[in-house]
Amino acid sequence: MGEYLKITGGRPLFGQAMVPAAKNSVLPLIAASMLCRGETVIRQAPALADVEQSLAIYTALGGQAQRQGPAVRLRAADAQGRGILPDGPARSMRSSVFYLAPALHRFGRVQMPMPGGCKLGPRPIDIHLEGLGRMGAQTQWEDGQLVLTAPRGLHGVDYALRLPSVGATETLLMAAVLAKGETVLRGAAREPEIVDLAEYLCACGASIQGAGGPVIRVQGRTELQGTAYTPIPDRIYAATLAAAVASAGGQVRIQGCPAEFLEPVLAVLELAGCGVQRQDRAFLVERSRTLKGVGRVYTGVYPAFCTDAAPVVAAALLCAVGRSAVEDTVFEDRFSCAAGFAAMGAQACRAGRAVEITGVRRLSGARVQGSDLRGTAALVVAALAAAGESQVFGLEHLRRGYLGLPATLQSLGARVQLAVQEEQE
Ligand code: EPZ
Repeated sequence: MGEYLKITGGRPLFGQAMVPAAKNSVLPLIAASMLCRGETVIRQAPALADVEQSLAIYTALGGQAQRQGPAVRLRAADAQGRGILPDGPARSMRSSVFYLAPALHRFGRVQMPMPGGCKLGPRPIDIHLEGLGRMGAQTQWEDGQLVLTAPRGLHGVDYALRLPSVGATETLLMAAVLAKGETVLRGAAREPEIVDLAEYLCACGASIQGAGGPVIRVQGRTELQGTAYTPIPDRIYAATLAAAVASAGGQVRIQGCPAEFLEPVLAVLELAGCGVQRQDRAFLVERSRTLKGVGRVYTGVYPAFCTDAAPVVAAALLCAVGRSAVEDTVFEDRFSCAAGFAAMGAQACRAGRAVEITGVRRLSGARVQGSDLRGTAALVVAALAAAGESQVFGLEHLRRGYLGLPATLQSLGARVQLAVQEEQE
């Protein structure tokens, strides 16, 4: 029995849609709250599979997590133990890595399997481990588990990341706020989610300067106090809605997310022929004519065109007249969705790290299988433009990152329905 989305494409989207809180902010925030005394309330914590897995890790480590509507209340002051992450949740996502630094501070030790997450090519955690090592943690492997210890605590360091990893910057920020002395992180990632984490930590009493730039300076504190915090909106969700309009046509006001969070994505859609009006914490996307190919575009680290939006933007370009290519410079294997595009009649071929597209006049509904979060969203975006019925499988991926996407698309006029296949054919 498998669930899928039944999508009958060809209907333009009209109306307005609200962007939920950013998964990729909420996940580090939940783990970071373990650094604090007292309670943290994350006011918007979307009920996504990854968020629930993170809460399962939090409670297994001895913290208390309580849902209250969209909010989650977190308290870990009394947590004790040996910092052992539960295997299932830890393997299910990349974000289990965010517990390394908080557990080291709280328990002097942390133990976990290699984190999982979307299969996008190799995703090592060497920068997280090297940075923590320079701060005094010792790493070893025991029976396939990673074990880090810091019996004498962590100390500040001047450390240059070999590349601006988002996750490693977040790990080292969480390590630095309670480390002894000053930490300087050079070559840090600059994504809005880094700034959000730093703002939360500062609201808890941390001293951080430069987050959002390449050099971050942190003065270690002896303790942090929890606080109530509202995370930033999900710029990838917003980009996915914008790509959906570009694919299906229509006009939609995407609310709650400033356009500046996703400017390079909007610029590609404008280059293809979409209209975009920037407003205060909102933007209007409109597509009334056939799109045109955009040539070759590249993803990069923030503030460049973000890797997570690459598959959905590629999906929107499948019927653009002429050629487009989207090349991901961040991950080796971003476009597993290309097989699904081809099943719908697209001319889309993977070439190295890119997907190369020659626009076709129309797509036809097909049965397709998503195999990662953004790739599955891209199949939904493509299906919105395809004539006839598509069946998009792989909803377990979608549920990791897109709160209520089918209902949102329905509210905009799309024919999207959750369906269940009784037996595997
Ligand atoms: C974060 O992953 C996001 N996840 C990803 O979103 C996003 O695609 C990515 O940043 C890039 O923006 C979360 O925030 C939970 P990285 P992360 O460390 O931190 C290499 C989604 O769909 N690298 O910046 O894992 C790595 O292999 C997800 O929401 C090392 O070599 O990304 C990759 O090529 C998918 N060693 C590059 O850096 C390391 O120690 C960027 O990875 C760490 C990373």
